[in-house]
Amino acid sequence: MPEALDEFPRLKLAHLPTPLVEMHRLREALRTQSGRDVPRLFIKRDDCTGLATGGNKTRKLEYLLGEAVAQGCDTVVTTGALQSNHARQTAAAAAAAGLACILVLFDTVPYAGHAYRKSGNLLLDRILGAEVRVEPAGADAGKVFAELFKEIEAKGGKAFFVPVGGSNPTGSLGYARAYLELADQAEARGLGKAVLVHASSSGGTQAGLIAGAQLRGGGPAIAGINVYRKDNAAMAEGIHALACKTAALLDVSAPPAGSVDLDGGYLGEGYGLPTPEMRTAVERVARMEGVLLDPVYTGKGMAGFIGQIVSGKYAEMEAAIFLHTGGMPGLFAYEEEFVPC
Ligand SMILES: Cc1ncc(COP(=O)(O)O)c(C=O)c1O
Repeated sequence: MPEALDEFPRLKLAHLPTPLVEMHRLREALRTQSGRDVPRLFIKRDDCTGLATGGNKTRKLEYLLGEAVAQGCDTVVTTGALQSNHARQTAAAAAAAGLACILVLFDTVPYAGHAYRKSGNLLLDRILGAEVRVEPAGADAGKVFAELFKEIEAKGGKAFFVPVGGSNPTGSLGYARAYLELADQAEARGLGKAVLVHASSSGGTQAGLIAGAQLRGGGPAIAGINVYRKDNAAMAEGIHALACKTAALLDVSAPPAGSVDLDGGYLGEGYGLPTPEMRTAVERVARMEGVLLDPVYTGKGMAGFIGQIVSGKYAEMEAAIFLHTGGMPGLFAYEEEFVPC
């Protein structure tokens, strides 16, 4: 591991390295479906990072909470949607680090499923001991956080704010580190020319991976599937800006402008709203590979991965790797998408 990544405070929270597993049955099915040869398919199991059902945020939180502890903070505050996987992993990381955790969750997703407002990640947040504060969609976030920080200070506490998705340069260091881990695994197994495809939302995962590629000076290509914003170009620009800041932290050159590969074709009606392709992808991968995805991120991400493979986008590649970023508890919040209730 390059020294640059060890220069920042870091708590060891994740079970690493996560496994890289070949998906033989899915490859065979996509070969038949497309009528063409397809690259070897793999899944990088970052759903197995270990913290309260795992996921990508655990790697970011290693650096973020490392910073919180270094600053002497005792209360972690973060935010997201009601079914935020990031919030759940932050609650777990704070518990493991012996810090208090306050989650400010905004009720922004217009999904009317009956379990959405009580089960899934929300249930786990409470079991993990976080204080959960729910705010309506239109709430003034600036005011909510200003009042909360005052309240913590008045009680003698010191707050550490983790931005949505843990997506700032410090959090992205976790995915620069992940890129090196994956690229080494791919090289050791002789995968050859490869691409890494994943669901992209607040952008820290993709930005970190890109910064990691800059640090390593080569390795698998990186392709995001947008599950978050309707304005794909603006989202790609934001990811590029964050990748540049992360690269600067690591003292490596910035990625070229316009180089972020982000596919906006699988979002559907919007963030957190199910699509038929997501449902098919979740069931297909569960039934062919025994792997559980989620309805908000990895289900749409996998729908994109499958669509891109079938379209021949990766015909020149020897291997295509799907980064499983976690999110499985979300299945319980969206149960009627899969089982008639
Ligand atoms: C399961 C899962 N996958 C992917 C993502 C996207 O990661 P990022 O926000 O770093 O783009 C998230 C973010 O919350 C997530 O929870």
